[in-house]
Amino acid sequence: MMETIKLSNGVEIPQIGYGVYQVTPEECERCVTDALKAGYRMIDTAQAYHNEEGVGRAVAKSGLKRNEVFLVSKVWISNYGYEKAKASIDESLCKLQTDYIDLMLLHQPFCDRYGAYRALEEAYQAGKLRAIGVSNFYPDHLVDLAANVEVKPMVNQVETHVFDQQIEAKKYMDELDCRIMSWGPLAEGRNGFFTNLLLAEIGARHGKSVAQVALRWLLQRGVIIIPKSTHAERMAENLNILDFELTADEMQNIATLDTGKSLFFDHHDGEVTKMFMGWR
Ligand SMILES: NC(=O)c1ccc[n+]([C@@H]2O[C@H](COP(=O)([O-])OP(=O)(O)OC[C@H]3O[C@@H](n4cnc5c(N)ncnc54)[C@H](OP(=O)(O)O)[C@@H]3O)[C@@H](O)[C@H]2O)c1
Repeated sequence: MMETIKLSNGVEIPQIGYGVYQVTPEECERCVTDALKAGYRMIDTAQAYHNEEGVGRAVAKSGLKRNEVFLVSKVWISNYGYEKAKASIDESLCKLQTDYIDLMLLHQPFCDRYGAYRALEEAYQAGKLRAIGVSNFYPDHLVDLAANVEVKPMVNQVETHVFDQQIEAKKYMDELDCRIMSWGPLAEGRNGFFTNLLLAEIGARHGKSVAQVALRWLLQRGVIIIPKSTHAERMAENLNILDFELTADEMQNIATLDTGKSLFFDHHDGEVTKMFMGWR
């Protein structure tokens, strides 16, 4: 049985899902098919990944009912502003071969996010989206947005892993009844992740891998996770984390790995903003 987390509007999201960033359009259908076979029931894609069609094809061919798979997508910033975001939601629905998306996020806190968010709210009220939220909104942007919209964001998907644990940012999300969803739960392997001695030592105690320990640590913190792998055996490994529990001491020891800093982007750096604005 997959664990679920209840969003502020009562919708239940599986706590573990499968992410398809950097999965090519050609490979996406095969990967999502393998992930569904492995038991994943939540898929995280985005307009900017250019692979929503592959997700749609895999789900359509899976034999699963639409309501057995939780679909997450994100509006890219080149589609921000009310009119463009509204049209892009319909395009995502079409590519995903569905008449509703379970959770739609604004991908980045740049450009006309208020206009884009109004389009999310409207599609939510119309039943095209079962839940709405944001991604990469750090406390400054999250607090600002939540105070100035009608339907508060239900999820915030931010970089979260053992080296950047988002302890402070999560406090703001908790205050706003907004669930934290981790991107890069395996730190994409950066910073020596897969050979980390502490994680390996804890894993040896439980008969689990470094990846499994780090993912389990996120689960026990109440974080929603979407590890990505193109390999079926790793997909299964990353899902096989419900049969052991980290002790309070182990949780505390892993907490010491936090650097409080991104391994990828500083969302408050103007050069990063420019880089994202050029991304199509
Ligand atoms: N909202 C955003 O801005 C944002 C940004 C980044 C990511 N995301 C979402 O978050 C998802 C996950 O993040 P991510 O893809 O960046 O990184 P990740 O899940 O932290 O790491 C993926 C990397 O780890 C490898 N890997 C996976 N499982 C492994 C295992 N058990 N043992 C060894 N290596 C393993 C994968 O290689 P192989 O594929 O070769 O197996 C891949 O190179 C994305 O797919 C996407 O859906 C969102």
